[in-house]
Amino acid sequence: MDFKLTEEHLMIQQAARDFAQAELLQGVIERDEKQIFPAEQIKKMGELGFMGMMVDPKYGGSGLDTVSYVLAMEEISKIDASASVVMSVNNSLVCWGLQAFGSEEQKQKYLTRLATGEIIGAFCLSEPEAGSDATSQKTSAIDMGDHYLVNGTKNWITNGSTADVYLVIAQTHADKKHKGINALILEKGMPGFEIGPKEQKLGIRGSDTHSLMFNDVKVPKENRIGEDGFGFKFAMKTLAGGRIGIASQALGIAAGAYELALKYSKERKAFGTEICNHQAIAFKLADMHVAIEAARHLCLKAAWDKDNGNNYDISGAMAKLFASQTAMDTTIEAVQIHGGNGYVKEYHVERLMRDAKITQIYEGTSEIQKIVISRAIIAQ
Ligand code: CAA
Ligand code: FAD
Repeated sequence: MDFKLTEEHLMIQQAARDFAQAELLQGVIERDEKQIFPAEQIKKMGELGFMGMMVDPKYGGSGLDTVSYVLAMEEISKIDASASVVMSVNNSLVCWGLQAFGSEEQKQKYLTRLATGEIIGAFCLSEPEAGSDATSQKTSAIDMGDHYLVNGTKNWITNGSTADVYLVIAQTHADKKHKGINALILEKGMPGFEIGPKEQKLGIRGSDTHSLMFNDVKVPKENRIGEDGFGFKFAMKTLAGGRIGIASQALGIAAGAYELALKYSKERKAFGTEICNHQAIAFKLADMHVAIEAARHLCLKAAWDKDNGNNYDISGAMAKLFASQTAMDTTIEAVQIHGGNGYVKEYHVERLMRDAKITQIYEGTSEIQKIVISRAIIAQ
């Protein structure tokens, strides 16, 4: 067993760290306050190869492994979790889904531009009445011979208005339940495709979340991903990798808050000494450090499983469950260590605390991760 990162891994980690400090830190408070999408920053992330990290270079990607992706996600998320959710959706749901299951034509037409960040993508599974219970899809894709007619509503779609390409999960053969579901590629501007108003959110406020409405949208048959009825498997297999991305986002949020709290505790004095010398504060730092290290190991193990052809459904779910709890616990304590300063925007930790919460909700709530994990261990 080797816990040492390779030279290449360390280079990617440093490049992401430098980029986050140089390009994301500035303006992050204003983007959060005014819900501004980090458009310029995402463009630069594309130019640096962060938007299609695991995509084969022949489709414009960086051809890197999942470990590299985890390292980069952690660094970007330490500074700006809104930018990192855009990165995560584009990399692990949209690009990976198309690379793994798309046709050659779909890869040439869409993946090549998604992987370079020229355009970004969205992954559309959730509906008003189908969130955790994802097999209950109501959006319909009626087979009309050479095309599908899509009707319905998707909720909570990240990159909802900024994406150009949308992977939409819809029911074609309701009698077959989840085995009748398809995954279709929709493009912005297709007649009948409407984008609802932007959601006003607690955290990741720079990211762009919308409902989408489909009213008789004509989608060519060649835009179906995989065989007829493969859509639910597509969503589950894709989400298994997506959960590694969100686990790494949670890890980054926790690590960012911890680094700020550690620094602050060495500078702030109370009762004649730096507050880190009070054992109550020192023990909080110890707990944060241990939990973050454990979360990092779970994230890297899940990535290693994926890179080595092992099953990563369970290791990814474990990483997401634990890292998101760590993000919540750590950010709350980071605010506490900052005292009153923790409660105001300029010290960043209040934002990280608000951003942390979503990691326990999207790409499968913590309860759903426990369903996935418990089913697997009971079946053993
Ligand atoms: N890989 C392949 N197939 C899988 C799978 C996996 N990881 N997990 C489940 N399946 C298959 C099952 O094998 C089954 O197919 P068969 O009948 O052919 O065997 C089918 O999917 C249905 O599975 P279950 O019987 O287990 O279905 P269920 O309804 O009991 O539970 C669930 C499924 C795991 C709870 C699932 O509905 C789920 O993951 N829900 C959470 C939804 C979610 O994560 N949404 C995220 C939206 S995207 C997002 O959030 C992005 C963002 O914010 C940034
Ligand atoms: P529900 O499913 O209604 O769950 C409500 C509560 O009940 C939760 O605590 C849940 O854990 C619990 N619960 C439900 N079923 C069970 C059970 N069987 N056992 C125990 N507890 C259970 N979706 C997309 O498709 N694409 C996106 O890009 C996307 N981005 C998002 C961005 C944001 C900011 C948000 C808030 C959501 C996003 N989502 C996206 C949707 C997200 O994946 C769902 O919100 C999530 O899966 C939960 O679904 P729900 O909101 O319908 O909650």
